[in-house]
Amino acid sequence: EFLQNKQFVSDQELNERLSKNKKWLDEALGKVYSERTSHQDDVWGWMDVEEWASDEAVQFVKEKAETIRKEADVFVIVGVGGSNQAARAVIKALQKESKPEILYAGNNLSPHYMNNLLKQLEGKSVYINVIAKNFETLEPGLSFRILRNFLYSKYGNETNKRISVTGTINSSLHQVAKEHNFDFFIFPENIGGRFSALTDVGLLPMAVAGIDISSLIEGAKKMQDLMHNQTDIDNLALKYSTFRNILLDKGYKIEMLAFFEPQFHYFSKWWIQLFAESEGKEGKGLFPVAVNYSEDLHSIGQYVQQGQPIIFETFLDIENPNSSLVIEKDHVEDNFDYVNGENLWEINKIALGATIGAHFNGGIPCVKFSVPEMNEYYLGQLFYLFEFTVYLSGRILGVNPFDQPGVEDYKKLMFEKLGRGF
Ligand code: PA5
Repeated sequence: EFLQNKQFVSDQELNERLSKNKKWLDEALGKVYSERTSHQDDVWGWMDVEEWASDEAVQFVKEKAETIRKEADVFVIVGVGGSNQAARAVIKALQKESKPEILYAGNNLSPHYMNNLLKQLEGKSVYINVIAKNFETLEPGLSFRILRNFLYSKYGNETNKRISVTGTINSSLHQVAKEHNFDFFIFPENIGGRFSALTDVGLLPMAVAGIDISSLIEGAKKMQDLMHNQTDIDNLALKYSTFRNILLDKGYKIEMLAFFEPQFHYFSKWWIQLFAESEGKEGKGLFPVAVNYSEDLHSIGQYVQQGQPIIFETFLDIENPNSSLVIEKDHVEDNFDYVNGENLWEINKIALGATIGAHFNGGIPCVKFSVPEMNEYYLGQLFYLFEFTVYLSGRILGVNPFDQPGVEDYKKLMFEKLGRGF
């Protein structure tokens, strides 16, 4: 829903730019996708969900996950960036069961965090999944070593069945798995981390957490069909990517993903990574941030309403209640009787409507994506929609959406300082 943004982008302007940008959609659906010849060394493995989430591959993941689920009290996902964000987004939003408990490592270098994590593992049956495309990243590498030592000291020869690794075929991580008899899952060579939600990378940990991965895949496929069949300027991803790039040209620097449901918190971290790493290069790109409303209305909301006019908002909304709680009449006189009998769900919705109204009237362009429900199926749709969008948007911007050369700079300095000799 592009709301009524005509005061920011006129219909004529939008249509002209859509017609101009349609070539990137044509390229994606034609030359790049249908006519691709080598699947091994390209970057398009995410475009067809089926390529890495076939029935057979999903069945294998489900069986392995079931074994872990039976045995594990705790399952630690070791990975950073694209290697853990999608799984964490879905698990944190939807996990209903308390066993296995899912913990996260490999995404920082903090001894405080790691010592705390090790404490939480005491007395529990522990399994880990180490996920890394390029097994040189220090954060997952060191966390793996620390956890491996912990597991060997606890389980001795039985350790190997408690470790699964997800890496590219013939990578050094694959060699480690072979030598030590760890279960191995495929990190597709032709998919970058931040596009890997619907592969073993995201699916194994999600399945261990009891997530319905078939439904997630079904949702993504549905969005894929939609994106691939809307071949004209009505294509939703083309519209969204065009709209955000027009705003960028008009001086808006920041796109803020805003939501009133905390379940979206870790999804927003996935979204931020997707857009920041794909577009922020060559001095270009919108700066992506996220806000958890209504909490953040009481902090950043002030700036949004009255600060520099450099922000536009993309709202995520859920149409049907994911929970219900009626505000009961109370014997304490507390000034809130005007909401007696109202449902907290509806109150939250009213806050959303009021926020969009106030921000829009205050001169902030607003976009809204609504999903009917908060579940696997619609999260699958959102994954695919945003991946397709960021690809088109990167092409419109004139950058390569699939690399992240800037991330290497800090690594280079850090490796030098640590004395890494290669
Ligand atoms: O999207 C990406 O490609 C990156 O964010 C990577 O996923 C991230 O840097 C982690 O890389 P790796 O799994 O190779 O350690």
